[in-house]
Amino acid sequence: MKKITKAVFPVAGLGSRFLPATKASPKEMMPVVDKPLIQYAVEEAVAAGITDMVFITGRNKRAIEDHFDTAYEVEAELVARGKDELLRAVQEVIPKYVNCIYIRQHEPLGLGHAVLCAQPVVQDEPFAVILADDLIDNEPPVVAQMVEVFRRYQCSVLAVQDVPRSQTGQYGIVSSTSLEPGVEQVHGMVEKPSPEAAPSTLAVVGRYILTPRIFHHLAQVQAGTGGEIQLTDGIAALLQEEKLLAYRFNGTRYDCGSKLGYLKAQVAYGLKHEDLRDDFAAYLASLK
Ligand code: G1P
Repeated sequence: MKKITKAVFPVAGLGSRFLPATKASPKEMMPVVDKPLIQYAVEEAVAAGITDMVFITGRNKRAIEDHFDTAYEVEAELVARGKDELLRAVQEVIPKYVNCIYIRQHEPLGLGHAVLCAQPVVQDEPFAVILADDLIDNEPPVVAQMVEVFRRYQCSVLAVQDVPRSQTGQYGIVSSTSLEPGVEQVHGMVEKPSPEAAPSTLAVVGRYILTPRIFHHLAQVQAGTGGEIQLTDGIAALLQEEKLLAYRFNGTRYDCGSKLGYLKAQVAYGLKHEDLRDDFAAYLASLK
């Protein structure tokens, strides 16, 4: 029985949709209320029992490494001022037993290429891929739900949700048949098809559990949609030889790769935040 102990976070992207906010700092460091997107993603991996975090980084991404490192000056300052609660928030960004590994993606060749960059660390184990842009709110978190599906079937699992047909061009879209409530067997997958060409409206969102055989296929796929090496094309090749599942997850997804989705996430997480929710709800109500 294989266990998932590693998660890959592709964080090398330019974040061009949020320029100029992302001119000098990574889009994954953009906060939702008081935590950066990448921290939510790492917390989701930790909640699923994952202990090794593999970040595929690029230029201008140093802030991510600093965020998950000890910040001696900040901690010393908070100790001196007796700010215990803030000190805890800074120290508890990541549990001490978790390893952070950083691999540089030297060229922006696409999501599939970014995942391939993790091979030297992941080697021969199944692993998770988490796209921090997709913030998904649920208890238990989605990766933990997927690890449970993996435990039962011991094969690759993709998180999926139905999207309006007009939006198929933004996602990897699967064709599938139902195995049990919430779990489908995938027969085909295409990257960003037009609404007319889409085989269904079942879209992959940014959570994957993949077997290591994916690396073999990613090393072979040619540049596809957008001239990039697509993870979707590697997965489409993988499913020719291994079982592949799509999991209709429980949870609310916020597409923080878009400005509207990011604003919705701020509102939802603001309304959940212990210290803010009452005042924020009152403020929102006063706007009408
Ligand atoms: C990527 C994947 C796509 C997937 C999406 C989920 O696209 O290529 O298959 O559906 O993430 O968010 P991107 O959003 O990076 O264009």
